[in-house]
Amino acid sequence: MFEAIPLLPPDPILGLTEAVQRDPRPHKINLSVGVYRDDRGQTPVLRCVKVAEQRLLESEATKLYLPIEGLPTFNRLVPPLLLGDSHPAVTENRCATVQTPGGTGALRVAADFVKRNFPRAQVWHSDPTWPNHPQIFSAAGVSVRAYAYYDATRREVDFARLVDSLQQIPAGDVLLLHPSCHNPTGADPTAEQWRTLADIAAERRLIPLLDFAYQGFGSGLAEDAEAVRQFCRPGMASLICSSFSKNFALYNERVGALTAVVDDPAQVEPVMSQLKAVVRSSYSNPPAHGAQIVATVLSDPSLRQQWYDELRHMRERIQLMRSAFARTMSECQTQRDFSFIQHQRGMFSFSGLTPVQVQQLREQHAIYMVNNGRINVAGMSGATMAPLCQAIAAVL
Ligand code: LMR
Repeated sequence: MFEAIPLLPPDPILGLTEAVQRDPRPHKINLSVGVYRDDRGQTPVLRCVKVAEQRLLESEATKLYLPIEGLPTFNRLVPPLLLGDSHPAVTENRCATVQTPGGTGALRVAADFVKRNFPRAQVWHSDPTWPNHPQIFSAAGVSVRAYAYYDATRREVDFARLVDSLQQIPAGDVLLLHPSCHNPTGADPTAEQWRTLADIAAERRLIPLLDFAYQGFGSGLAEDAEAVRQFCRPGMASLICSSFSKNFALYNERVGALTAVVDDPAQVEPVMSQLKAVVRSSYSNPPAHGAQIVATVLSDPSLRQQWYDELRHMRERIQLMRSAFARTMSECQTQRDFSFIQHQRGMFSFSGLTPVQVQQLREQHAIYMVNNGRINVAGMSGATMAPLCQAIAAVL
């Protein structure tokens, strides 16, 4: 009965992890999937997470289901982390948070919520964007469109075209944004540009949907949230999808959250009821362990401080790799200027390499990156920097 089912191509990002694992060459370099690696190429468990797990092992007394919306302490701790303790949406209890299986789970719950409550709304994403964005919204039956974002020649946000594009979006549609560390380009708007974008969203009555998967990897936890705060002004309702996969290195625990910020506390209960209906018909209720870890760390001042320090260390190592890559490429004396890599933020940059060059790097040098030329800077290390840059110079 299944003989007519067609074979699909591998996932453009996670499919590469499988290809890297199959590659027997010992010198292989993986700059594909967005995971942090230390200078030895490892993705260790954070120390604050180990301590929290130790405590949970000793104190956990049951494996009963969590509520549909997830762990209550976790859900209380998420909005102040996203918006700041004194943000009016936090102090006025205008946030409805559900714990989700990772940031992808948050996006899918958001997509189903949009389909149920705004059935005619389209979702607009940046061109380019994370390849899973269009898939998630299409899978929920939501139409997907793209707005202009990136200037590939200047390797920065094309602000004039972005503004122009946003002004064409029909009122009531959903505007999907990456508030910091744009995936895949690494090019973010400035604080002033974010203000303008939020003005446009408010004027045009668009629903901001903020994919905030890399909080803390740009300039810092609070600094990276600046754009999020712009879209949570009085009178605006927005959806924030956040993730602890990256900033807590809890990749396989699948812990994230969807926070709906509403403009009147009376809307919290109906919105929460809709979110719960989506969750119940999708995965019933979320797994507990990852959320318990996050809640344990965030509730304990000394563990929380340890987390800040470990996150700062990850961020600073990525910045170091950005400078080292730009410097080493310039030493290779190619015609191509890679200094832009230093000014971009987060794990990713668009290298500007063509699909043919990406293929050559994979086949001839065992260097893996996404076909569109996206590199994960967090996959670089001091030891692999010279061979990496020499290989790139060889295919240019
Ligand atoms: C990425 O963009 O590499 C990460 O967000 C991992 C993923 O699920 O694609």
